[in-house]
Amino acid sequence: MTEDLDALAKKLDREHVFHSWLAQGGLDLPVIAGGEGSVVWDHAGNRLLDFSSQLVNVNIGHQHPAVVKAIQDQAAQLATIGPATANLVRGQAAQRILSKAPDGFRKVFFTNGGADANENAIRMARLHTGRDTVLSTYRSYHGNTGAAIVATGDWRRMPNQYARGHVHFFGPYLYRSEFWATTPEEESARALHHLERVIQSEGPATIAALLLESIPGTAGIMIPPPGYLAGVRALADKYGIILILDEVMAGFGRTGRWFAFDGYDVVPDLITFAKGVNSGYVPVGGVIISDAVSATFDERVFPGGLTYSGHPLAAASIVASIDAMEDEGIVEHARRIGEELLAPGLAALAEKHAMIGEVRGEGVFWALELVSDPATREPVAAAVIGQLKKELTARGLLPFSADNRIHVVPPCVVTDDEVHQALAIYDDAFAAVHV
Ligand SMILES: Cc1ncc(COP(=O)(O)O)c(C=O)c1O
Repeated sequence: MTEDLDALAKKLDREHVFHSWLAQGGLDLPVIAGGEGSVVWDHAGNRLLDFSSQLVNVNIGHQHPAVVKAIQDQAAQLATIGPATANLVRGQAAQRILSKAPDGFRKVFFTNGGADANENAIRMARLHTGRDTVLSTYRSYHGNTGAAIVATGDWRRMPNQYARGHVHFFGPYLYRSEFWATTPEEESARALHHLERVIQSEGPATIAALLLESIPGTAGIMIPPPGYLAGVRALADKYGIILILDEVMAGFGRTGRWFAFDGYDVVPDLITFAKGVNSGYVPVGGVIISDAVSATFDERVFPGGLTYSGHPLAAASIVASIDAMEDEGIVEHARRIGEELLAPGLAALAEKHAMIGEVRGEGVFWALELVSDPATREPVAAAVIGQLKKELTARGLLPFSADNRIHVVPPCVVTDDEVHQALAIYDDAFAAVHV
């Protein structure tokens, strides 16, 4: 009977559901019917350790009871209300988010997800500065709407170039340095020099915003080298440019801090968020707005909006998520898991398996960069990643991959025992795959 439900889910999916970022023919996606914490299962009860957090968003784990209850209670009280209303739980959600932001941030604009958060941050920066150009890095992902996808640096922007005024530059990435750097300090200084030359060459007076992921996520979890983000801030100040930090993936606990940038001596002008703010229990994102940018719209109309901006179910789930993360010490837990278990555990895997060229990350936000030759750092072929994913899934782990990398990105609530289990599974799977 339960197998029938799994078969039915697959059949209906294959016949009627059109999926993101995939060719639609011949798909055979895993059926997920339920979950709890860091584990998901199908209708027949086959369990998988979720070391993807889905799209790196389920920070609080699956089915956190307080968040589920908050959504249920809010649905019973008021399931929806328009944006041009004052709603208590919406205000509380904004207040909770602002309590985690640095001083000097006064307001939150709610969106439906991360892409439209970036879209609206770009809109605010353009209107605030009266300039047009947006600079962002090649190795980045900012979402799949008009400007967010063109701000994206990776290949996904190319079939989607509808928005104007986007220019890309190289961010720091020592393992594959564009700057012939050999130390993090050199990489940082040279990447900053390159960025300043791009700013000067594009014309500083035309540049509205610098849009960066504090730690590029899907592009490879590249931890910023010393002084880089502070240096970007200094360049933004020097040329009167708005600094937007995209915390959609890195924010709300993933790095073991509330915001990833908290570790890097930098305060942006606009912060975009989504994913971890409520772990995606209800779709939501937004822009946290500094006082100066906010003041621009005190008298002037903000020409943007969404029917579901500040949706009460999303707002209730944000309040419950942030409260639970605080009460249960979930952010601190993610930091400890990173420092005590994942950092040494993944380093030990890299010692053992030559295919792992580099391990980088923090908290529950790690990338294994896989190479066919450690000397040349040639990325492994796509077929190797495909094989590895099969081996991992067969051993009971739901993996996350991007290009030639496996990202180790469990929920922030992952237990010590689950990390030990996962490390053993990665070890076995690497041993089973040959480059
Ligand atoms: C850093 C970053 N920004 C923006 C987005 C887009 O978010 P959404 O898919 O909610 O539109 C993503 C999604 O993965 C992301 O990782």
